[in-house]
Amino acid sequence: MNLDPVLPDVLTGNVLSGRKLAAHVKNRVAEVVQNLREHQGVELCLAVVLVGADPASAVYVRNKVRACKKVGIQSRSVVLSREVSQEALIQQVRKLNDDDSVDGVLVQLPLPEHIDEDAVIDAVDPAKDVDGFHPANLGLLLGREALLQPCTPSGVMLLLAAAGVPLKGARALVVGRSVIVGRPMTQLLIRAHATVTCAHRHTTNLAELVAESDVLVVATGVPHLIRGEWVKEGAVVIDVGINRREDGSLTGDVEFDEAVKRASAITPVPGGVGPMTIAMLMWNTTLAARLRRGVPSCGIVSPL
Ligand code: GUN
Repeated sequence: MNLDPVLPDVLTGNVLSGRKLAAHVKNRVAEVVQNLREHQGVELCLAVVLVGADPASAVYVRNKVRACKKVGIQSRSVVLSREVSQEALIQQVRKLNDDDSVDGVLVQLPLPEHIDEDAVIDAVDPAKDVDGFHPANLGLLLGREALLQPCTPSGVMLLLAAAGVPLKGARALVVGRSVIVGRPMTQLLIRAHATVTCAHRHTTNLAELVAESDVLVVATGVPHLIRGEWVKEGAVVIDVGINRREDGSLTGDVEFDEAVKRASAITPVPGGVGPMTIAMLMWNTTLAARLRRGVPSCGIVSPL
């Protein structure tokens, strides 16, 4: 595809750096946070609820708290025992909903098996739902402008925008149909006027679909599911997968070494979509704060 980068810095050759764009977004967030502090006397606060001691989840939560500190957002971590009851967890969420000093409420997923995740997500105040997982916010994705959108898909859209990827009329393929990534991703690409296919584990002609796609977004958690040789010459490839190899290193859902020879732009793993998710969480926290407190623009309407 012919790219017309808005932020030329994000492309090195054809490698599209989420790390660089995330740093840019976090700078924008820091400006908004500073503005809100100076002109509105507002201190932003994100509450993160972690249930149990799953090591991966604990790392994600730590990274979120660290990102908050970097952009000047206060954070509150609530760590609950693995054995906590669903009622007690929902009570905790409600308490954070009712706390006026808290702008965003995020419950780290997955939750232990005895807890119904949907019931917990439903309990989050949609106005503080910085993950964008509440049905009210997911529903807005289908029609009207969604204000709080899931962080990973909005991070992908921002990467595409920064690289100047022309989406109108493009043939886009989303591989994976999770509520967190694949489904909202499909909706955002439709909104951007792409012609979108969503493939999943029961899709029978994946290689064929990949071969005819101008834009490919892969979020399956299956290492190297997408063979580089399937990728159309000049396609834009966004790899959402973060898989740990036996030697401890990280790899994506796309066979990068082959795909990079064909793509006009491709995200690496690590350093691609991952950092964007946290940057967009920071952005969503400023959005939630601005909307709830009635100061929507605060001088900055886009994180680009
Ligand atoms: N677990 C994996 N990804 C996410 C995410 O984006 N948000 C939350 N809350 N939990 C997750």
